[in-house]
Amino acid sequence: MSSQSATPALAKSRMTLSKLRRLHQQGEKIAMLTAYDASFARLFDLAGVDVILVGDTLGQMIQGRSSTLPVTMDDMIYHSAAVARGNRQAFLIGDMPFMSYSSVADALHNAGRFLKQAEVQMVKLECSAAQESVIKALADEGIPVCAHLGLRPQSVHKLGGYRVQGRDDAAAAAMLAQAERLEAAGADMLLVEAIPASLAGQITAAATVPVIGIGAGAACDGQVLVLYDLLGISPPPLPSFVKNFLLENDSIQSAIAAYVAAVKAGEFPTAQQSYQ
Ligand code: KIV
Repeated sequence: MSSQSATPALAKSRMTLSKLRRLHQQGEKIAMLTAYDASFARLFDLAGVDVILVGDTLGQMIQGRSSTLPVTMDDMIYHSAAVARGNRQAFLIGDMPFMSYSSVADALHNAGRFLKQAEVQMVKLECSAAQESVIKALADEGIPVCAHLGLRPQSVHKLGGYRVQGRDDAAAAAMLAQAERLEAAGADMLLVEAIPASLAGQITAAATVPVIGIGAGAACDGQVLVLYDLLGISPPPLPSFVKNFLLENDSIQSAIAAYVAAVKAGEFPTAQQSYQ
């Protein structure tokens, strides 16, 4: 793909939840990417990224840690505020770090900090059944929520490693039911990580809110990638669903624009970049 054709013009106004819902209703794929600083956020605007996730993957990507578990709320606020200063157009999501939402009171306090101190427009939580009451409480306060299902990296020790989730029939049925309950509790977006493409397709078909996939096949309403995976500079081992877009492009900005174009065209991920 040529770098020039892949670069859309800078959008004029800020992405909002209503505009994302409109994209979803119109069947336009949503392109999401992680960022951790103002300079990349600025580049994302030029490349037409719809949604920026300030992910707790900053633990590995920025801090050199071996998991996301040590990341603190202060770390997340620092990086999200930096991204917010560089960002003009994309919808901004802040990732709630490990143990920052284990009670309704903690979740409200920390999500409130995210919106007040870092100007994020939505918070993301890795969800088990225990988070339904948390999502409801956040929704009741008018705080948009993205519920993260499937592989939940903050539960890596409980899961026994970074493994594909929902492979057997019982686990798939449980995840589908959980997605429906989380939406009913007030989630405005679902994010599914490392699950079979067929299960992601079922969750997407059942949901009325946008479903964003990572390692979850092409049927989702949008895709998210970790920026440093897209640029081929994240620490190995890399999961099989990752694509280094810099290999086929001559600059960071054109690699990001190529990712956006590939997501919009339904060309990323391919079957080889998905779990069957
Ligand atoms: O923290 C993060 O970057 C994420 C993505 C992997 C979805 O949660």
